[in-house]
Amino acid sequence: MGRIMDFRHQISLPGNLSSLPADALLLVLAGEAIDASLDTKLASALNDALAEGDLKLKAGRSLYLHRLAGVKAPRVLASASGGTGVKAFKAAVLHGLNQLKGLGAQHVAVALVGGELDDQHAEAVVTAAADATYLYRHTKPSAPAASSLNKVTLVCSKGQAKSVQAGLLRGQAISAGVTLARECANRPGNHCTPSYLADQAKKLGKSHQLKVEVLDRKDVEKLGMGSFLAVAQGSSEPLRFIVARYDGAPKTQAPVVLVGKGITFDTGGISIKPAAEMDEMKYDMGGAASVLGTLRAIAELKPKINLIGIIPSCENMPDGRAIKPGDVVTSMSGQTIEILNTDAEGRLILCDALTYAERFKPAVVVDIATLTGACVVALGHHNSGLFSPDDALAAELLAASQSSLDPAWRMPLDDEYAEGIKSNFADVANVGSRAGGAITAALFLKRFTSKYRWAHLDVAGTAWKSGAAKGSTGRPVPLLTHFVLSQVR
Ligand code: BES
Ligand code: MN
Ligand code: ZN
Repeated sequence: MGRIMDFRHQISLPGNLSSLPADALLLVLAGEAIDASLDTKLASALNDALAEGDLKLKAGRSLYLHRLAGVKAPRVLASASGGTGVKAFKAAVLHGLNQLKGLGAQHVAVALVGGELDDQHAEAVVTAAADATYLYRHTKPSAPAASSLNKVTLVCSKGQAKSVQAGLLRGQAISAGVTLARECANRPGNHCTPSYLADQAKKLGKSHQLKVEVLDRKDVEKLGMGSFLAVAQGSSEPLRFIVARYDGAPKTQAPVVLVGKGITFDTGGISIKPAAEMDEMKYDMGGAASVLGTLRAIAELKPKINLIGIIPSCENMPDGRAIKPGDVVTSMSGQTIEILNTDAEGRLILCDALTYAERFKPAVVVDIATLTGACVVALGHHNSGLFSPDDALAAELLAASQSSLDPAWRMPLDDEYAEGIKSNFADVANVGSRAGGAITAALFLKRFTSKYRWAHLDVAGTAWKSGAAKGSTGRPVPLLTHFVLSQVR
């Protein structure tokens, strides 16, 4: 699991930065000129560099200075943000920390020059530091040694200290949640099985005072989850249905419920996937991982709210007993489903979990799933797809997405798109035509959500990265944590 890093605020005036004790000073330059309040020793060096063209005050530009005369910190890294917004600030911090982490510095002090700090900036410093230093090593003993960076302080004024401290705490909780999600999702399918996810939930329950209940196949049969069972029947790896609760408010208060898709490997089943990049289907439990991560973040922040995480988890495998195209199953809701494509399995496990959620009389239900390749085609890897028939709820989720710098984009949900999932042999089919595939998937889920306010996040494009930096991103833990915090009454 991620290493422990120490985050604090440090009160200092911009004019005194040269006397600050730290191994490295990371100056984020926000203005179009070096701010007049900056320490003269630092300002004259930076103005020199500007005049000689070695530094430009544009996003992505930076300058490293070693043992600057009269400056206590032996390393100074100036990183321009090209703007005063939190997003630009975080990018500049990340850029700076990525350069500094390979050097000898253990303690980095971050200062914003030419801008006002608030809690959002503080949160961004922590999440950037966690991003810069995360390294997967569980099944890779040869991974490089962790960087020496172990302490980050954020320089602020006395007046900013309170909100900066709150932001640092929120950032640490979110980063711990993101790291947990990344660690789970990066584990290969032979390590991260449904039972492993259940064990992780139980472990989290012990360390963070959550009530965790794990149902097995027999329990799920009793509940009549014919759709979830149908997906699981092709695998010899036993299914798990995980329910984890954080009780931060009186029992009478309706809970926020998060439902995460927990397919620990998606081969496609009998409608088998092509071999290329099939390894990435180990991340098909990214939704489940984000639910665990959010539970962890919330349990650390202890807001006065009730939060329940529900995770249906199994493998999707081809087998002699696996479901076949054309099979009809009965979901827990009583609706029958014609399974035209066994690779559209996420919606089949989620629909029963969404019906199960009714028993909690939720204030709101959000499901999170690596649901469709079509969502990746539509939105790429930057925005998660947000679907909800409820405008107010969609707005709350978009606000959380903005404040957490975890982008999401609202997608349409018109009934007309549901034409394709009509079936001659059941109440509904599990796939429509290829066109608008992310929307028909969301409309399939919508059929099971009539009892509460509901939104769906398709994170197929955002929960992990392909290519050289292949791996889990831990998204959308930041968005979900901000959303849950926004629901405190
Ligand atoms: N887990 C996949 C979706 C997915 C695809 C996630 C690519 C991440 C990257 C899901 O179970 C799936 O296979 N969906 C099918 C649906 C289709 C059969 C209607 C898809 O997107 O191809
Ligand atoms: Mn699939
Ligand atoms: Zn899947």
